[in-house]
Amino acid sequence: MVNRITAPERQDGDPAGRTLRPQSLAEFVGQASIRERLQVYIQAAKARGEPLDHVLLLSPPGLGKTTLAHIIAREMGSEIKVSSGPAIERPGDLAAILTHLSPGDVLFVDEIHRLRAPVEEVLYPAMEDYKLDIVVGEGPHARSIRLDLAPFTLVGATTREGLLTTPLRDRFEVVFRFDFYGPEELAEIVVRAAPRIGCAVDLEAAQELALRARGTPRIAIRLLRRARDVAQVEGMDRITTQAAQETLAMLGIDELGLDALDRRILEVLIDRFDGGPVGLETLAAALGEDPDTIADLYEPFLISLGFLRRTPQGRLATGRAYAHLGRTPTRLL
Ligand SMILES: Nc1ncnc2c1ncn2[C@@H]1O[C@H](COP(=O)(O)OP(=O)(O)O)[C@@H](O)[C@H]1O
Ligand SMILES: [Mg+2]
Repeated sequence: MVNRITAPERQDGDPAGRTLRPQSLAEFVGQASIRERLQVYIQAAKARGEPLDHVLLLSPPGLGKTTLAHIIAREMGSEIKVSSGPAIERPGDLAAILTHLSPGDVLFVDEIHRLRAPVEEVLYPAMEDYKLDIVVGEGPHARSIRLDLAPFTLVGATTREGLLTTPLRDRFEVVFRFDFYGPEELAEIVVRAAPRIGCAVDLEAAQELALRARGTPRIAIRLLRRARDVAQVEGMDRITTQAAQETLAMLGIDELGLDALDRRILEVLIDRFDGGPVGLETLAAALGEDPDTIADLYEPFLISLGFLRRTPQGRLATGRAYAHLGRTPTRLL
């Protein structure tokens, strides 16, 4: 598993992350369109005395899905129950979770694309009608009975939209796709997070870190922690621009926020595969990395920078990627 500073984790492995999480929609920085829509839906659902419609959150790791799920519950005045696709192994596990929900509860299922098919089938009637179908008895005496469930809101999150089945996806009334954050938004997140981890940061230093955080709050906060270490070791009482720059240099993060593996992906693509197109599996094998890691953690940002394209034939380096690495394309791009 990668453990680079710029690799957002799949799971919430950061124990201090909880305390850094914004608690309300108003404190949630950026994603303005999502926030506005959510505000309306929450207000309307509360006025009707109904649970919020089921919500699907789509984004690469570290962009705020888990945070937003908790905020949704809090803003609805609801309890949140947390689970994940891989944790719900059998239909019975999901049945147990569903029957323990109270009216209005939010059920957050992270990595929902990893639910197994028989488990997912239990979810369909639960989402549509708040019903649970269970089979009692065996053989010729087997019959199916329908149990009523408490009305609830399912909040599903995934980093892999393409791996969701159509029937599951179709049962979410609300779908939010996060954008990468802009530098100003990330700088604001850094400035707000600093006192919570017990340090002071100059605005310019926060902006410097924000520019290299790959549009990702989790990375911005991680860079802040590392810069705090540097400042502390150098006996500074706050993170200065110089401390921020030293931190970034030490971590091998370039002016666009690319780390060593980002650059290696582009280098291998260009030098070994003539810029592509090359299949993900082949590319990952050449890099000695896990294909999911490349697809999940690295490609989305390289694509957003316009360095990489996913085509039906495979991954393709763009002219901008050649320029960034100082290579000359050997053919027309
Ligand atoms: N919009 C935001 N405003 C402020 N902090 C954020 C925001 N989005 C994410 N964060 C912070 O970034 C970190 C990662 O967010 P998280 O919700 O765990 O991402 P995801 O679940 O999408 O991987 C958390 O520490 C969280 O507090
Ligand atoms: Mg999460």
